[in-house]
Amino acid sequence: MSETIQTLLQESRTFPPTPEFVAQANANDPKIYQDAAADPEGFWEGWAKQLDWFEPWHTVCDFQPPYAQWFVGGKINAAYNCVDRHALGDRKDKIAIIGEGEPGDTRFITYGELKDQVSQLANALKALGVGKGDRVSVYMPMIPELAVTMLACARIGAAHSVVFGGFSADSLAERTNDAKCKVIVTADGGWRRGNIVPLKNTVDETMDLGCPTVTNVLVLKRVGTPGEVTNGVVTPEYSQGSWVEGRDIWWHDLVPQQSTDCPCEPMDSEDLLFVLYTSGSTGHPKGIVHTTGGYLTGTYATSKLVFDLKEDDVHFCTADCGWVTGHSYIVYGPMANGATVLMFEGAPDTPDKDRFWRIIEKHKATILYTAPTAIRAFMKWGDEYPNRCDLSSLRLLGSVGEPINPEAWIWYQQTIGKGNCPVVDTWWQTETGAIMISPLPGITPTKPGSATQPFPGISVSVYNEKGEGKEVTGPGIIDSAAGGFLVLTKPWPSMTRGIFNDPARFQKTYWSKFDNAYFAGDGVKLDEEGYLWLLGRVDDIMLVAGHNISTMEVESALVDHPSVAEAAVIGKTHDIKGQAIAAFVILRGGHQNHDGLVDELKKHVAHKIGALARPDDIFISAELPKTRSGKIMRRLLRDVAEGRALGDTTTLADPNVVHLLRDKYEASEG
Ligand code: WT7
Repeated sequence: MSETIQTLLQESRTFPPTPEFVAQANANDPKIYQDAAADPEGFWEGWAKQLDWFEPWHTVCDFQPPYAQWFVGGKINAAYNCVDRHALGDRKDKIAIIGEGEPGDTRFITYGELKDQVSQLANALKALGVGKGDRVSVYMPMIPELAVTMLACARIGAAHSVVFGGFSADSLAERTNDAKCKVIVTADGGWRRGNIVPLKNTVDETMDLGCPTVTNVLVLKRVGTPGEVTNGVVTPEYSQGSWVEGRDIWWHDLVPQQSTDCPCEPMDSEDLLFVLYTSGSTGHPKGIVHTTGGYLTGTYATSKLVFDLKEDDVHFCTADCGWVTGHSYIVYGPMANGATVLMFEGAPDTPDKDRFWRIIEKHKATILYTAPTAIRAFMKWGDEYPNRCDLSSLRLLGSVGEPINPEAWIWYQQTIGKGNCPVVDTWWQTETGAIMISPLPGITPTKPGSATQPFPGISVSVYNEKGEGKEVTGPGIIDSAAGGFLVLTKPWPSMTRGIFNDPARFQKTYWSKFDNAYFAGDGVKLDEEGYLWLLGRVDDIMLVAGHNISTMEVESALVDHPSVAEAAVIGKTHDIKGQAIAAFVILRGGHQNHDGLVDELKKHVAHKIGALARPDDIFISAELPKTRSGKIMRRLLRDVAEGRALGDTTTLADPNVVHLLRDKYEASEG
């Protein structure tokens, strides 16, 4: 990490916005920062007024740390704002969603059609007994019906809990049961690298594990039976699962028959919109709660200013809707703005490594929002792939998920943006709901590797261990450099309203380190010009390919294997993924290391959590470095895995253990 800090702080290139971009930008007057800082509530209220409300609020913000309420007393519906108001207005025939399936099948859905589809599914969910206040698990491929499902839930006041399609049955069951979901909406499968992700089969396994609150499984036919042809691509063999009569219902047997009339439920501004599970450092996932009015206001405003969204834009966010990025910047933010969004089902290297660039060329995408891990993979694959495609439609590039190294930033700006597109590096979290730190592309000179400034109306401070620190109020306002913990000191509309059913954990995780301030868990450095440089997590969360995975979660999955006695997991620097998972494992008495055991353990973790948590390295060891009180010193394991000099070993019960471990580890690395 110290190396990262060094390279980051040596970065001195700056890229001011071009006059052409400034002239047309949604935000081009730096005064927006001063105005918002002088009256943050007034600033946010101005944005809320751009949404359609059934009834106005009486109080803008009521903050009783750690909980805030926004637009209190207001009545609103998210689906109405993302669909109906466009369908009923000038955007009826405007494309809302371009669905690009992995086999190359493409669908265009207008706002008018979207309104009908969302309404029919909403009525179908009602027919299955889902109503206001209920929860629905959504386990689907990245196809338009996933957005339709989220919006249908919002329409009737049911909260969705979208679970990424790469998660295992165990993970889906845990999340479904924690949220007490009534229905699971899924598909027979989805396409990934020419194979089928057998979603319905995994839902069957999930139900076998026991989901007592689930009464029905609604199944969309996406891939069909092996041998079927989609856009010239034949569906390969996959596990189709079984069909449980009464429980399982085909989407096509229920949804198209429904009425296209379904009123939008007037929701309280503070009613639950969705729960989204994210890794926590104690192991089991946290159900992050977002409510309606504030979340929509935050995602609407940031979409408009950070992505500079305009009527003709084609917004291509490459995230999956299983993550918050897909919630906020495919569905709610862009659609509240009436934008055209692209949804891509597959992998960036299928059928070839130019797939993203082909999609941009084909649909004339104007905005690309992707992750550093993807950008680094593209760099490695080579410039020939983007260079053989026409990327001239692009006008803005975004990055999210982890710190972007200056080299990748420059490559993105040059090779993809041809030097003509502002790059916005956006810092935020599942918990923050919307972008918190980012350049405004028509105002902020960017520095490669820095997320630059807090969004207007957002109060960021950099604290030291004692909770003393500096507020970052805007360009040129601070006087000297500081480094430390990133905290948010004032409430904002899209902030999480807590952890589903676990207020104590919410208080402890985010609000106990510092008084009355939200601690994000990230380290940050502030430079002399008031620019923020994010340095990654300071806790036990790893950022693997931009996704949160907790070390504890992987450790429990390993220890769950019959031959494992103890496991210590760390994130190890990785060229492309940012961090890779490395595990140190002690076997149980009577169990020997043997050929294939490491692979078996990797598979076991993938099976328990999902393929994204599969460790890259597993090292079987006789002992682990422990303190006298028996705590594993992961810091030293990180030193071993990174090939660094060992840090302080004086608190170890037996310092020899770690030296021996290092020698063996290095020998095994060859
Ligand atoms: C964590 C949140 C928000 C969408 C994706 C991840 C890291 C996110 C950046 C960035 C440096 C970043 C932080 C944060 N992170 N964006 N631009 N620069 N770090 O959502 O899974 O809730 O993860 O991702 O460490 O805390 P998430």
